[in-house]
Amino acid sequence: MNIINVTRVDMPPIGDYIEYLEEIWESKWLTNNGKFVQTFENKLQGYLGVQNIVAVTNGTLALNVALKALEITGEVITTPFTFPATTNVLIWAGLTPVFADIDPQTWNIDPVDVEKKITENTSAILAVHCYGNPCYVEELQKIAYKYDLKLIYDAAHSFGVQYKSESLLNYGDVSCLSFHATKIMHTIEGGAIVAKKTDVSDKIRLLINHGIKSEEEVELAGTNAKMNEFQAVMGLCNLKHVDTKIKQREELYFHYKERLSGLNIQFQKLISSRYNYIYMPVIFESLGQRDKVYSNLIQNGIKARKYFFPLTVSSAYFQDKNLVDKYHLNVASYIANCVLCLPLYADLEMATTDVIIDIIKKTIKRSEW
Ligand SMILES: Cc1ncc(COP(=O)(O)O)c(C=O)c1O
Repeated sequence: MNIINVTRVDMPPIGDYIEYLEEIWESKWLTNNGKFVQTFENKLQGYLGVQNIVAVTNGTLALNVALKALEITGEVITTPFTFPATTNVLIWAGLTPVFADIDPQTWNIDPVDVEKKITENTSAILAVHCYGNPCYVEELQKIAYKYDLKLIYDAAHSFGVQYKSESLLNYGDVSCLSFHATKIMHTIEGGAIVAKKTDVSDKIRLLINHGIKSEEEVELAGTNAKMNEFQAVMGLCNLKHVDTKIKQREELYFHYKERLSGLNIQFQKLISSRYNYIYMPVIFESLGQRDKVYSNLIQNGIKARKYFFPLTVSSAYFQDKNLVDKYHLNVASYIANCVLCLPLYADLEMATTDVIIDIIKKTIKRSEW
């Protein structure tokens, strides 16, 4: 059976990559702020409309470094409806995640609940633009100013997304991108940090290379989060095609949406002025119905994914097994129980989406009997 996965990696023309490889071989410069990493950062700056961007090894290290650069301490208010990395980085940094519920329409952190969860130990908000859809950035900014908190965005899904015709990455103190192979813009593994202030991005540059300021001076207890030249040239190759890929995804997204409308299926309310169509998440009526659709798709060789289920508060390492109740995460719990991300990638055949849609329709009908 031909397996259809939830996503498929975009590969640039191999000739383009080989041309760059020849140059890398010639130069014998593989990492440590090489020519191609610098070119990639410059191109990203132009494409995204941001300043102060630093390319890094992956999106997780981007978050690790951002937390260090902003000297976050104590409690951080965050969302449980995300990939494990968002919560794990807080634990790694010895911080205490405090979970706020999400908005039932955008599925992003609810600013009203964020404000309720602030204590004297809160130092930051770590919000996620879930599936690339912008958080309520103005409300979060107001709260951050009011309580003197740092505002960090996990923007792993938000490449190319704009809010009010401006890059979404320009909101908050720092935004962290992922260029993992499954993202719409990838460098195999990779990521980037966008900082509002130049002094913060200068510090980030030091932190990603063990805080080494000069041959004999180590200024900060940093880490190794440098992007290498092989990653950067994959990025340069992919950047040329990303707009075409987004366009292809957009068509498929709206085809799904049109053909699934009229069923009792909920879609994410997008509040971006430009979106990237990175995922195709839908919400079914119940966990039972979602799981039936999931297994019927599997039986037909189609691997949809229950992103993001379970909530990160259910990770085995939390001793308290009742964090959903403790933090009143009713909306997040409902969305996680009912969500399914359907296959979406640039070269997915429209006919395959029709097969998926038909399976969903049949399953929903059957479960109504
Ligand atoms: C929301 C979110 N945050 C962080 C990450 C981590 O990024 P990376 O895989 O590049 O380390 C991911 C990865 O998929 C993600 O989805």
